[in-house]
Amino acid sequence: MKVLVLAAGLGKRMKSKYPKVVHKILGKPMINWVVDLGKKFGEVGVVVGHKAEIVQSYLPEDVKTYLQQPQLGTGHAVMCAKEFISSTEDVLILYGDVPLLKAETIERLQHVHVESKADVTVLTFIANDPTGYGRIVRKGGKVKIVEHKDATEEERKINEVNSGIYIFSGKFLLENIMKLTNNNAQGEYYLTDLVEMAGKVETLLLDDSIQVSGVNDRTQLAQLEFVARERILREMMLSGVTIVDPSSIFIGPDVVVGMDTIINPFTIIEGKTTIGEDCEIGPYTRIVDSKIGNEVKILRSEVERTTIYDKVSVGPFARLREGTVLKEKVKIGNFVETKKSVIGKNSKAQHLTYLGDATVGEDVNIGAGTITCNYDGYKKYPTYIGDGAFIGSNSSLVAPVKIGRGAITGAGSVITEDVPDDALALGRARQVVKENWAKNKREALKDANNKE
Ligand code: UD1
Ligand code: CA
Repeated sequence: MKVLVLAAGLGKRMKSKYPKVVHKILGKPMINWVVDLGKKFGEVGVVVGHKAEIVQSYLPEDVKTYLQQPQLGTGHAVMCAKEFISSTEDVLILYGDVPLLKAETIERLQHVHVESKADVTVLTFIANDPTGYGRIVRKGGKVKIVEHKDATEEERKINEVNSGIYIFSGKFLLENIMKLTNNNAQGEYYLTDLVEMAGKVETLLLDDSIQVSGVNDRTQLAQLEFVARERILREMMLSGVTIVDPSSIFIGPDVVVGMDTIINPFTIIEGKTTIGEDCEIGPYTRIVDSKIGNEVKILRSEVERTTIYDKVSVGPFARLREGTVLKEKVKIGNFVETKKSVIGKNSKAQHLTYLGDATVGEDVNIGAGTITCNYDGYKKYPTYIGDGAFIGSNSSLVAPVKIGRGAITGAGSVITEDVPDDALALGRARQVVKENWAKNKREALKDANNKE
């Protein structure tokens, strides 16, 4: 089936410079929740209109977009995407501002639609307050949808309402979409009018209305964020992940966490992150778009676009930036920052270090305070450190530079030239000792004071 997402609307009540559908839930724009859901069922098209370029910039490349300008109603939105519709395939209609619909609900809707061979199958729900929704009006075996503003007093009492989610037969949709008119209370082309025009209509009543809740303002955005978060954490706990304090943990919808991993309080995991089994993450940790192996410990740290192999330990207070790769059993300690650097197996940088554009071999010890000076104000340069090297504390490695295997740099060295394998490199002034100098100075000062 084809999936058409309507996302051209204005969203005035968000009070935002940005289109409504790019506002995020658990770090993921609403439109991407809907598009990703749609992709499970077939090719996705999106109708854009209000601030179309911004919405488009959030869409994956394989999604087709159709411009609706101006926005003359949901029926008009579908007219604008007419070329997306095929007479041989069903069309699922979704809204870009309804992010929490579940795949299993669409499966049920599809089942009803296919079994019944209906022209259209409508997903409905019972609204406590149906104000604003289209009412499901059933009379003499026929079904129609009457918009709130067009409804009679009697019809307004109906609380079964239209969710706005439907499956249409592509053939029926193509044959009838251009027949819609706009003589109604709002002067809009209503997609809902197609229901009355259909020969065979089916409905599926959903008993979990949160799934079809839309976001109109930022209080609703926060409500759905809360629901989404609980849903994800619950699924994760039921799949064998320990979540120590669900009220302080945020995990995005595309995060995968392995069995027996423990997630400690005040932790945020976002984007396309995977974490293996038996890890301990947090407290106070944020991880974005990263891939983490098994038995990894990350404490009070920031991790972004990083790959971490098994048995690594990170933090507290580490910052791993984009392009960091930590091989098995690496140890990264407090106040260490890494960027675009590969650190080999068993290597350690335990304290106060910056490693940028560096390739570090296995079994390397990086002393406290080591800095790769990778930037000269114009360009970035690489640093290579061979297996088994020992970088003395407070070394400045001025890139481009290469430290050989098994080499040592003396503490406090500024290393500007390559160091051969197994060599010792010292780049610091030789120490000068002046016997009794301090004592003599003190005494001279004391005498001067006494004379005053
Ligand atoms: C629509 C339904 C109503 C249903 C309600 C559920 C119609 C006529 N009415 O109401 O029966 O109960 O949804 O929320 O369809 N959109 C466009 N272009 C437009 C207008 C809307 O793309 O010209 C998009 C919006 O961005 C939004 C969705 O369609 O994602 C629904 O629009 P909205 O104005 O909220 O729905 P209503 O027409 O009020
Ligand atoms: Ca609405």
